[in-house]
Order: sequence, then structure tokens, then C-alpha cells
Amino acid sequence: MKSLAVFTSGGDSPGMNATIRAVVRTAISKEIKVYGIYDGYEGMINNSIVELNTKSVANIIHKGGTFLRSSRSEAFKTKEGRRKAFDNLNTLNIKHIVAIGGDGTFAGALEFSKEYPISVVGLPGTIDNDLMGTDYTIGYDTALNTVVDAVDKIRDTANSHNRLFIVEVMGKDAGFVALRSGIASGAEAALVPETNIYTDTLFKKLKSGRREDKTSGIVIVAEGNNSGGAYQIADKITQNYPNYEVRVTVLGHIQRGGNPSAYDRVLASRLGFGAVNALLDGKKNIMLGILKGEYKYTPFEKSLKHHDKLSPYLLELISVLSS
Ligand code: F6P
Repeated sequence: MKSLAVFTSGGDSPGMNATIRAVVRTAISKEIKVYGIYDGYEGMINNSIVELNTKSVANIIHKGGTFLRSSRSEAFKTKEGRRKAFDNLNTLNIKHIVAIGGDGTFAGALEFSKEYPISVVGLPGTIDNDLMGTDYTIGYDTALNTVVDAVDKIRDTANSHNRLFIVEVMGKDAGFVALRSGIASGAEAALVPETNIYTDTLFKKLKSGRREDKTSGIVIVAEGNNSGGAYQIADKITQNYPNYEVRVTVLGHIQRGGNPSAYDRVLASRLGFGAVNALLDGKKNIMLGILKGEYKYTPFEKSLKHHDKLSPYLLELISVLSS
């Protein structure tokens, strides 16, 4: 392997810059030429490809976002788009790629590698943590800390006014952000896409035990939960329990920004280093993750169609500790 390219794609996540840095510096240490592709798959099609050196990635380990920028490319879903992308890579003699992103990124890479002789190693970069084959995705820990910091502040005003806050967090298909941030912020409940039962459980909780004389509190709702968005849940609570004064906060994209946590920087560094070695070992069409402290290779087909189940233990934990 004489050269490789690295790019970021899909929703950005804190730690992507640290990952690019690790890929670039590992490759250069092994005398491999390394290119950065700007704007994800769009840049591959538009030939936004530049050679990077160790200085290109200086002073970025602590920065959120991705200096290579990102996109969700419609053009790459077409044969014509992928042909243009291949022609551009071929001109630079690039046959190996590190793709940092989520399931959409890996789906694109899989399609591409079926049509052209390109080896792709994927790294899990998303705040959602919804990929099979890694305990944590790059950016998840930082996003959790961002949510917990915000909820701590919301709790201050919730207590002052005796209000119940419904806080909506990201996660259209997965409740990982909601569940862990719910535990860490001491929420009454976390409503997640993976289960239906939670509005009923929440309602029971609102009229039972210690809750009876308590009208303040926090409920975390994942955007993709099955009971509707935060505003719909707030309406249901207000209709059923008029003694609660309910307010809604949608945290939105602040969850995607900010300096990566120490955990995410180390994870990013380990995965960036591991991806270059995986390509050197001849690996392709796999996502490299870290499971129980060890590198783990998961075929794209598996990592993009599934994610680990929410831990029943953590679901029980939030329920017991909030009672
Ligand atoms: O990064 C993943 C994710 O955060 C999802 O949880 C969310 O639904 C989505 O991205 C929103 O992304 P965008 O606004 O960039 O389309």
C-alpha cells in the first residue's frame, strides 16, 4: 500500500478531527502517502482531494466538527456518481480508504467496493452509538456529556418552578444517547425508540409513590421514540395530569458540536491507528471498532443493518433509581 485516502461522512461527531489526525500520522510514519477527501462522498465525485502531511493535522485533536467537512451525498447513490468518484481516485492511484461515519457511509462504501477494486475500512463516527461491533462510537461520549451538562442546568430551573421538563435528545432509530444521559442526569425516565411501554410506565410513575408530592423533574425523550416527539408527550402529560406544569426543551444540534472528551480523543486515536494497520493487513469492507478494550472487525453488512440492543440492565437501572 503506497497511498490511502481518508474522509468523513454523514452527521459529524466530536472526535472526527482526532481520528483524521491519527490516520494521517500513522500512515506517514509508515511512509504511506495520505490524501484527505473534502465533503465526504461529494468531494470524491467533485475531486476535492488533497495530499495531507503531519502539519495539516496539527492543532485539531481538541476541535469538534471535521476539518474535512461532511455531507450526505445523493450523487454517490447513483452509478454515475460512483464512476466519477472512482475515476478521481484512480487518477491519484488511491485504492485504500478510511471512511469515518455511520451506517449510510458504510452502505455507500459497500456498494462502491462491489463495483470497483477499492478497499475500505470504516470507523464508527456518530453520536448515536447505533453500530454493531463497538462499545462506543466516536463522539458518543462527548454528546452524552453535552446532554448531561444541559440537563443539569435545566434541573435548576425545573426545581425553582416546580416544573416537569421533557428534554428531547438525538437518536432517530436508537435510544443510546437517551438512556445513558437519562441515567447520568438522574431523569425520571428515558423514552427510547426500541420500546413502546415507556409512556405507560411513565404515566404510572407520575401518579405513584414518592412522585405524588413531587411536580418537578426531568424526562428524556429520544427523537425517534414511539410515543411521538417531546411536544406530543408534553401534551399527553398535561391532559392526563393537569397538576404538572410541563415545559419542553429540544437540545438539537448542540449535541453534535463541542470539543471531544478525553475518552473520545483516545478512542479516535486508537481507531485511526488501527484502521491504517487493518488496511496494511489486507482488511476491507469492515468496520473497525473496540469491544471490551480490544479491536474488533465487523463486516459492513452486519454493522450497518444492526446495532446492539439497549442493555436490559441499564433499562432496569433507570427505572429502579428513578422510583
Ligand atoms: O448524527 C446522527 C444524528 O444525530 C441523528 O440522531 C439525527 O436524527 C440526525 O443525525 C440529524 O442529522 P442532520 O440534521 O444532519 O440531518
